[in-house]
Amino acid sequence: MKKKYPNNLKNRNFSDEEHLRFDSEKTGPLLDIGDVFSGSKMRCSAKEKTDSSSRMGMRLSKVLAASGVASRRACEKIIVDGRVRVNGNQVIVPQTLVDPTSDIIEVDGQKVQAMPPRVYFLLHKPLGYVCTNDPKVKRRAVDLIPYEERLFTIGRLDKDTSGLILVTNDGHFAHKLMHPSGGIQKEYLVKVDKELSHDDLVALSQGCMVEGVRVSPASVKKVRHGTMKIVVHEGRHHEVRALVEAAGMEVLELKRIRIGPLLLGKLEVGACKRLSQKEIETLFT
Ligand code: URA
Repeated sequence: MKKKYPNNLKNRNFSDEEHLRFDSEKTGPLLDIGDVFSGSKMRCSAKEKTDSSSRMGMRLSKVLAASGVASRRACEKIIVDGRVRVNGNQVIVPQTLVDPTSDIIEVDGQKVQAMPPRVYFLLHKPLGYVCTNDPKVKRRAVDLIPYEERLFTIGRLDKDTSGLILVTNDGHFAHKLMHPSGGIQKEYLVKVDKELSHDDLVALSQGCMVEGVRVSPASVKKVRHGTMKIVVHEGRHHEVRALVEAAGMEVLELKRIRIGPLLLGKLEVGACKRLSQKEIETLFT
């Protein structure tokens, strides 16, 4: 698959100073909000690297630089000068491994925030890809995102379902979005094994039990022969297939085309789009 971001950014190395020019709002120089990608992994900024590297331990000088304290070289000097404490202990070796997600790091007595930036992607999941972080699984939806650090899908689409799935590293956001009380609508294009009658649509609207809870669609609309749009707001496992089967039909194709105000639109199969903070916020307004 081909990368769609500009060639002039593809193999560029950014100096520490350049990284530091990007304030905490920005996610780094290599990814522009709204860019569409459909290809191989993209390098991320120093800030972004603080996430998964932190699980193995990250060099103290790198953590400080990634947190915007100063350039890497300047951070090394700050450490050697004895101005840095980790969990209350003075550390003077820049290569000391720390965990930025749990260690308390202070420079001149001031706590350093070493949080990775939050990223959000809208992915057009192809059929056959699995929404999982299990490394043993071959075709994972998260692997389609050109981003080096650990990401996860927000909720799941079945292996046999295609369409819009959100991918992030923001656990708090994912939890909020998936909570049933949020009532965020999800819209699916559903092709079934028969011509749709008025009675079929009525039967569908009656709902069914899923995971011990009664669910019913927010709306059901026939769009053409054997194809309809179903809107749900629960987001329970296999919900749409369960609704269709309970109404006596079989799902032939299932594609999610919308979550709240976010549309799949014409995004290519397998491609993804980085979402801005603003777009993300529209989900809760
Ligand atoms: N409902 C289903 O049955 N499957 C999906 O993948 C998503 C919603």
